[in-house]
Formats: sequence, structure tokens, C-alpha cells
Amino acid sequence: MTARRPAPTGHRPAEDPAAGGGTRSHTPPGSIPAQHGPADPADAPVHFWPVDHLTALDFDPLLHRLLREEPVARIRMRHGEGEAWLVTSYDLVKEVTSDPRFSRALTVDRPVTSMTPHTVAPAGGIGRTDPPDHTRLRRLVAGAFGRKRVAALRAGAEETADRLVAAMVAQGPPADLAEAVTGPMPEHLLGSLLGLPAEDFGRLQQWRTLILSTDRSRREGDGVKAEIAGYFRELAAHRARFPGDDLFSDLVAAHTRGELSRPELVSLSVMVVLNALDQILGQATAMVYALLTHPCELERLRAEPALLPRAVEELLRFLPQRNGVGMPRIATEDVEVGGRVIRAGEAVYVSYPAADRDPRVFTDPDRLDLARGEAPHLAFGHGAHYCLGAALARMECEVVLATLLRELPGLRLAVEPGQVPWRRGSVNRGPEALPLRW
Ligand code: HEM
Repeated sequence: MTARRPAPTGHRPAEDPAAGGGTRSHTPPGSIPAQHGPADPADAPVHFWPVDHLTALDFDPLLHRLLREEPVARIRMRHGEGEAWLVTSYDLVKEVTSDPRFSRALTVDRPVTSMTPHTVAPAGGIGRTDPPDHTRLRRLVAGAFGRKRVAALRAGAEETADRLVAAMVAQGPPADLAEAVTGPMPEHLLGSLLGLPAEDFGRLQQWRTLILSTDRSRREGDGVKAEIAGYFRELAAHRARFPGDDLFSDLVAAHTRGELSRPELVSLSVMVVLNALDQILGQATAMVYALLTHPCELERLRAEPALLPRAVEELLRFLPQRNGVGMPRIATEDVEVGGRVIRAGEAVYVSYPAADRDPRVFTDPDRLDLARGEAPHLAFGHGAHYCLGAALARMECEVVLATLLRELPGLRLAVEPGQVPWRRGSVNRGPEALPLRW
């Protein structure tokens, strides 16, 4: 059926997508893989990874298998060109993400195999730079997202959560948590942090859905990115004349001082806004779903509210937060990883959700255990590109859960768990809506 193609350097055959995905080694029959020293990439079978959209809390079956059988594997996805490495085990994910020989800047304009037809992260953006540019960009925003600043934002977040939950209760059950609470929460936060006008969130939310979509063409993706860039350019021109006491005004001032280029200003703002809107909505909603479908764990948390910060960490570890993988890195020289040689110029992905299910690190990793106190999870990434919004996301998720648990002792799903609608065609996972009663 699928003829074996010759395998020129860097291009090995993978399973035909039309055949439903799978794996095929291109090692010629009868050939013997190297027995000593790091294995040559040519010995690695290529797994076609269609990145199906999984429902509820289902864990990706290919990630589950590779983590156990082949923690450094070759993959090919639906879009882009060629193949890439995929690293799934906890230790090796940490190794790759803290090794400066893997570059993000080199991914710009490289059509690396990927799950989306367009690149989600903007070029020149913080996620696609290396030091010293990356260090400079992080420094400019570090203060705004640091623990101290986030602690200062907590009281405002609690007030917002109280108000949103009270409005939901006043309207009466059933109510959609995403619409009533977890969607608006980050809007309020961004309003105060970045000084974004409340009336702009309708547009920003639409752009968020389009940019994070996996079904849009490259042209559509580029069109949306141009629109959102235009929005931030206009806002920057306005703030340059009328500065406020907010992060966006600080970034505009840094641009005026020559510390930040205009494309950097725009892409940094886009990354912050989209991540905050999408991740807090997706993760906080999924956390509530996970608790309501694990009644013993929910009971435990209700009996011991001081467990909440630890429970949030375990939920972050346990929830499969995204489909597929994030941004790749490119090896700047030959690097040995887990007994395989990643050649200079080859692309490497890591899977943080897979690392967080590594049975070598977490006992019974597929079980939600709110009192788990093992290794720190990697849900926010690792190394230089560690999530900028981690403290903010933790705080917002804690505040949402604390408010719901305190105010609504009878909280439950308003539909059967199987009827909860889940996002389709999007990079990030989470319930599309979460119908609740109390
Ligand atoms: C529970 C919610 C969140 C999760 C699970 C999450 C997860 C991640 C992950 C896995 C990375 C990538 C690390 C890498 O590239 O290797 C990342 C990067 C990033 N996140 Fe988050 N994130 C969350 C919330 C947020 C929020 C609220 C913000 C905005 C304030 C944010 C802003 C960013 C930015 C700007 C980066 C790029 C950092 C860099 O490349 O230096 N994230 N996040």
C-alpha cells in the first residue's frame, strides 16, 4: 500500500495521513540499528500525529504511548513541512527547555511540521526570541507579572469574582460558568493591568478564538493577526499622547525610549492578552469540571479549604491543557538527548502535559490526587520561556475556586458529564460552556 520511499537526510516517510495515523519505521527490513553510542535519527520511526480533538479530560493516546515507549520520538503533523522530534519524559523535557543550544529565534519563517496551518505566535514575539532579545523583553514586563504585583491584584480579583458569582446566583440556575464567571474574570484583570477599555473585549475575544483556531487557513490567520496588530498600533499611538498608569502605557514609553521596537510592542501585547483571556477561561472552567466529576476530591477540598493552593497545582498537572504541542525549538548544533542525536537544524517539540504524566516522577500519574506533593509540575513550561503569567493564572484560578466553594455549597453540573460541550478546532482545551446548578 504505502511504498517505502528513499530516505534523504532529514526527510523520512511517515504513515500516510489518509490511512488514519500511526507509525512506520523507515529502517530497511533486515537492517540493524546502531548498537553503541547515540542512535542515529535515521533509526527512529516516524509517527504521524493527526492531533485529534479530544473530549473532556481524555489524555492524548499517542503522547501516553510515546512517554512510556519512546520519550524522544520522530513525528509529523498535518501542516508544515518535514518532521520534528518530540520529547515527552519529565527529565528530558526539562533538559531540552533549559539548554540554550535549542533556539526559538530560528523557528521564525521555518515551516516546521505543526498542528495549525498558521503560526499562532507572532514573529518577533517573546516566545520566538532568544537571549539577549528575549531577556530584554522579559525584563520589560517582569515587574507587572511578578508575585508582588499579582498579590496586589488579588483583592480586586476577589471583588470581581464575588460580584460575578452573585450576579450568576441572582439570575438563577442553570448558568454557564464560562459566560458568567471564567470568561469575564480575565477581562477585568486585563482592564486594570493593561488599561484596556471594557468596550474592546468583544473584538479581542473574537480575535482570540480565530487566532487559536486549528481549522483556519494561513491567509485567514494572517488576516486576523494584521487586524489585532492594527488595534494595538492605534491604541499605542493614543497612549503615547495620553499615558495612563498601566502596563501598556509603560510599554509604549519603553518604545518611545527605543527599548522596544513597534513589532515587539504589538506582539508582546497580543501574547499577553490572548494568553490571559484564553488560558484563564479554559483552565479555570476545566478545573471546576474536574472537581465536579471527582466528588471524593471535591469533598476533600470542601473539608479542608487550606488545601486549595496545592489542589490548584495538582489540577494544573492533571488537566490536559492543550491539543498537540506548542512552539518548536531548533538545534543550533548536534545535541544528544536521551540517547538520540538531534542534528543541528532539526526541530524539536516538548510536551509539558506528557511530562506531567510521567510515571517515573508521579505515582499513578493519571489519577487526580489533590493532596499530591511530588515533583513540581511543568504546566507553565520550564526554562527561559517559563510562562510569564503563571502567578497571575494561579491567583485567578484560586480566587474562582475559593469563591464558588464558599458561596455555592450545592454546586453541581446541570447536565450529565458527557453532555458538557468541549472546544473543537482550537489549540487550547477546555469546556466550551459549563452548565451549573447549585
Ligand atoms: C493556567 C493558565 C496558563 C497556562 C497553563 C500557561 C502555560 C504556558 C506555557 C506552557 C508556556 C510556554 C512555555 C514554553 O514556551 O516553553 C507559556 C508561555 C507564556 N505565557 Fe502562559 N499559561 C497560562 C496563563 C497565562 C497568562 C494568564 C498569561 C498572561 C498574562 C500568560 C502569558 C504567557 C506568555 C507571554 C508566554 C511566553 C513566555 C516566553 O516565551 O518567554 N500565560 N504559558
